[in-house]
Amino acid sequence: MNLIVVGASAGLGRALADRLAQEKHNLLLIAGDEADLKAISADLNLRHSVQVEIAAVRLQCDQNSIEKVLAKASALGNIDGILFPLGYSRTDDDGTLGCDDINRIVNSNMAGIIALCSHYLPAMLQRGEGLLVFFGSVASERGRSSNIVYAAAKRGLQSFAESLRHKCSATNINVQYYQLGYLNTAQTFGKKLPFPAAEPKDAADYIVRNLNKRFGLEYYPWFWRFICLGLRYTPWMVFKKLKF
Ligand SMILES: NC(=O)c1ccc[n+]([C@@H]2O[C@H](COP(=O)([O-])OP(=O)(O)OC[C@H]3O[C@@H](n4cnc5c(N)ncnc54)[C@H](OP(=O)(O)O)[C@@H]3O)[C@@H](O)[C@H]2O)c1
Repeated sequence: MNLIVVGASAGLGRALADRLAQEKHNLLLIAGDEADLKAISADLNLRHSVQVEIAAVRLQCDQNSIEKVLAKASALGNIDGILFPLGYSRTDDDGTLGCDDINRIVNSNMAGIIALCSHYLPAMLQRGEGLLVFFGSVASERGRSSNIVYAAAKRGLQSFAESLRHKCSATNINVQYYQLGYLNTAQTFGKKLPFPAAEPKDAADYIVRNLNKRFGLEYYPWFWRFICLGLRYTPWMVFKKLKF
């Protein structure tokens, strides 16, 4: 397949790019830093002999950033699917951020993703097939006093994915949404975590093995399904006192 991976220079996105190239998919890798992307594409080309294009674009909901992606994507031909393992969070996301920071969080976790999907959806609908894989966070299961804008954006993304799944239900367009727990990446580096962090490589293996399954929403690692269920039904009188 010809696939786009947005957020491919680090963490889960980098692991996914590696695993997808191993499966002989041709790739367009997108992230903000060109030097990172060049090094990754050279390595994937050498090890897996697949076509790897790169676009150094910080995806956001504006025509300029979408057109930069399209210009690079044309080298691959028809795009069969897009995976969106990008994300951006900040430790000071406590409800007091200024507009630039809010825009970056909302664009990187929701609005930029919606904009790129909206461009490719008509072609996928016309062909009646495609693949769209989104990544949310357990941080959005229940609002709390940290990761405030991040969680709001991820919850918006989840709603968008759910709507697309509904819209595409009579087609072969597969819409997957992973609700992710902690991963061992830059986002958790040095943080004291209440639950173990999964390795991005293991997550990428799991995701690539399941690209053909039509499950809608899946928790990874699996045990987060039960933690989130517990969190959702924790009475407010208790929940408001939790510090995490
Ligand atoms: N790590 C965790 O514990 C955890 C937990 C729950 C959910 N998640 C979610 O899981 C996914 C993967 O997380 P991760 O930890 O692997 O992230 P990461 O290590 O921080 O890597 C994020 C990637 O996204 C790119 N990126 C960020 N904003 C972008 C934008 N606007 N346009 C293009 N590329 C952009 C980054 O590159 P540049 O900075 O160069 O642009 C980088 O390649 C994300 O959706 C994240 O929110 C992570």
